[in-house]
Amino acid sequence: MNPHDLPPATGWTLARRAERMNPSFIREILKVTERPGIISFAGGLPSPHTFPVDAFAAACARVLREDGRSALQYAASEGYGPLREAVAAMLPWPVDPDDVLITTGSQQGLDLVAKVLLDADSRVLVETPTYLGALQAFAPMEPEAVGVASDAEGIDVADLAAKRSGARFLYLLPNFQNPTGRTMGEARRQAVMQTTRELALPIVEDNPYGDLWFDTPPPAPLTARHPGGCIYLGSFSKVLAPGLRLGYMIAPRAIAPKLLQAKQAADLHSPSFNQRVVAEVLRDGFLDRHVPTIRALYRSQRDAMLAALDREMQGLDVRWNTPDGGMFLWARLPQGMDAMTLLPKAVEQGIAYVPGAAFYAAAPDPRTLRLSFVTATREQIDRGIAGLASTIRTNLRG
Ligand SMILES: Cc1ncc(COP(=O)(O)O)c(C=O)c1O
Repeated sequence: MNPHDLPPATGWTLARRAERMNPSFIREILKVTERPGIISFAGGLPSPHTFPVDAFAAACARVLREDGRSALQYAASEGYGPLREAVAAMLPWPVDPDDVLITTGSQQGLDLVAKVLLDADSRVLVETPTYLGALQAFAPMEPEAVGVASDAEGIDVADLAAKRSGARFLYLLPNFQNPTGRTMGEARRQAVMQTTRELALPIVEDNPYGDLWFDTPPPAPLTARHPGGCIYLGSFSKVLAPGLRLGYMIAPRAIAPKLLQAKQAADLHSPSFNQRVVAEVLRDGFLDRHVPTIRALYRSQRDAMLAALDREMQGLDVRWNTPDGGMFLWARLPQGMDAMTLLPKAVEQGIAYVPGAAFYAAAPDPRTLRLSFVTATREQIDRGIAGLASTIRTNLRG
C-alpha cells in the first residue's frame, strides 16, 4: 500500500498559529512562472547577473584555506565579529558592532521581532499595501495587523494617531518599497518621526532596497534619527545574493537581549561559513564598486519597462508609478478590472505578475498589481508588456 493512501494519522492537533499560516500567494504564482515560455514580472528575485560569483569563489577558497575549521564550526548567536564590524561601518549613523545581530536574512529579523513584540490580539500597524512576507511573519503570533492609509510617499501621519491605540509597533519600508517601489521623502520622514515620538510608537524599519537607488540616494533612515525608538533590518540579499541568507538587525539595547534569545532558539546562529565569506568579500570596499553596477542595470531595466508601458498602454486607463530605485513598479488597471481575475488570462498569454491584493492587511484595491522589472530581458519586457496590454484590451471589451 502506498503510504500516501493511509488514512490521516490520528491525534495530531494543529496549533492555532499554524491555522494562521497560509501558503505564500507569490510562491504559488512563481510555480506557474516556472513553466517554459512564461514571461514573469511576478518574482521578487534579484537579477542573477548581479551575483558576484568570482568574488565568492575567491573568498570561499580563502576562508577554507585560512580559517576552514572555525568556518565549519558552531559559532556565536550574535554573528561573526568582523562581519558585525563591517555592517556597523556601512550604516549611515554611529553603530557599535556589539549592537549588530546577524540574522538569517532580514526575513528572520521579521520573525524574531514578531516573537518578541507581539502577543495574540496585539496590534501591529503596517503600510497600505505592505510586504507580504512581513504579514506572514507576523501572522503566527495572531496579532491584529492594521493598515495605515498611505499615498505615493507612504503612510499618512494623520491616520496613525487614530490607529495607534494598542499598537506594539509600526512596520515601515521607507525606501523603494515592496510592493509599490515608492519612497518616503524627507518631509514625510520628519513628520513620521515627530508623530511617532509624540505617540511613543516604536518603528520597525525594513530596508533591503535602500542601496539600489538610481539617481540620488534616499533620505537618511528613520532609525538614524531616533535609534532608541526603532529596530532596523538590513539585508545582503539585494546587494550580494539572496542564497546567502544573511541579513542584520540593529535594535535598542532594552530589547536586543530578547531578540538574541529568540534567535538562539530559532537557529543558534546564521551560517558561520557564509558570514566569513561575506566578511571576506566585503573587504577593500567591494560594495562601493559592486552596487553601482546593480543600480545601473536596474535603472536601465526600469527605463525599458516604463518605455514599454508608455508605448503599449496608450488609450487604456492604466496608471503606474516611476520608482526611483529598487526592483518593483506598481500599476493600476482600468476601472472595473480585477488583477486577480485577469491573472489566469495573462498567464494564458504567457505573462505573469502579482495581483496587488496579496499585499494588503485588509480591504485590498483589486485593480493594483506589482511588476518586477529586474529579471526579464529587455526583449521579454517589450513582449510581456505588449501581451499584458492586449490581455487588458481583450478583457475590457469582453
Ligand atoms: C521588504 C522586504 N523585507 C524583507 C525581505 C526578506 O529578505 P531577506 O530575508 O532575503 O533578507 C524581502 C525580500 O524580498 C523584502 O522585500
